[in-house]
Amino acid sequence: MAMNVTQFCSFLLLLVPVYGIVNNVRPIIGVLAQESDYNDLEYGDTYISADYFQYIEMAGARAVPVFVRKDDEYYSKMVQSLNGILFPGGDVGLISSYMAKAAQAIYKQAIETNDAGHYFPLWGTCQGFQLLTALTAGKNLLTNASAEDVALPLDFVNGFRSSRLYGSLPADIYEYLSTMNVTENFHHYGITPETMELTDSLYSFYNILSTNLDVHGKRFVSSFEAKHYPFYGTQFHPEKVSFQWNTNYHINHGPEAIKVGQYFANFLVAEARKSDNHFAAESDEISAMIENYQPVFIRDNTYRLTYFFNYTSTP
Ligand SMILES: *[C@@H]1O[C@H](CO)[C@@H](O)[C@H](O)[C@H]1NC(C)=O
Ligand SMILES: *[C@@H]1O[C@H](CO)[C@@H](O)[C@H](O)[C@H]1NC(C)=O
Ligand SMILES: *[C@@H]1O[C@H](CO)[C@@H](O)[C@H](O)[C@H]1NC(C)=O
Repeated sequence: MAMNVTQFCSFLLLLVPVYGIVNNVRPIIGVLAQESDYNDLEYGDTYISADYFQYIEMAGARAVPVFVRKDDEYYSKMVQSLNGILFPGGDVGLISSYMAKAAQAIYKQAIETNDAGHYFPLWGTCQGFQLLTALTAGKNLLTNASAEDVALPLDFVNGFRSSRLYGSLPADIYEYLSTMNVTENFHHYGITPETMELTDSLYSFYNILSTNLDVHGKRFVSSFEAKHYPFYGTQFHPEKVSFQWNTNYHINHGPEAIKVGQYFANFLVAEARKSDNHFAAESDEISAMIENYQPVFIRDNTYRLTYFFNYTSTP
């Protein structure tokens, strides 16, 4: 059947998820674990930095760890029970690590549940942002983009005002984000705007919202959102300003940077409130909460507060 342009556009609209209105004031967000660094194996084989839980909680949601090395049924249950999942920063492979395998299962489920009309946000921070590009493209398209412990203002791209992520930016947050060193970069790799534009799978899926220059003057994408899914990524770490106190780093803890971090946390939780998923029973919900675990405070002047897990003892 031949279609004219109007029919084709209506056909495309049918492929965009259609959601009912939901206001879930008890949202719960999952954070995905990853393999521990070699030096931390004594504490556990996988970990999640406590920052991410604190970040979610400060904006009015509860938080749940999501484990790696589980079967599809586990990830399906997590996506049906939670109101969003955050892929955190870290240092594991984007394709074949346990974290990447878990993220692949979650991503597939998240697409399916959104397509079925159930709002389900995904958020990627730093490595999690990079992971989103690998999940969408099916391969690792990163190149060198060095900005380790560098705080920067964002270079917004034209049209960022019509995005969901920045469409309601208050004037003060816009001022801080566009002029002050308030976004914390901790990366050696990144994705260039050219790579995103020349890769059909990425170009058709995401809108680039901001870019930045690395220490060598190379441009990398610093934030994006998916066009038709509630998926968001920032190459920078919005949680570090409030929760990372390592004095070896040059993190901006000034009031403007803190407000910027809070803006992103509030945005993520507002997205999660649009999801009406819930655990099958309150007892399942309570068993899943991060409060069931004890973090380790590593007293080596890095102020690291980390939840560790072992594969053999995860539920
Ligand atoms: C994980 O296993 C290691 C090695 O047995 C142990 O030292 C550590 O305490 C365990 N961690 C947790 C969170 O159970
Ligand atoms: C990328 O970075 C690595 C490690 O710093 C370096 O060895 C390599 O030459 C860099 N590649 C390019 C293309 O700059
Ligand atoms: C912001 O960070 C850049 C890169 O590190 C630095 O060159 C610049 O001086 C900083 N600006 C302010 C106002 O601190």
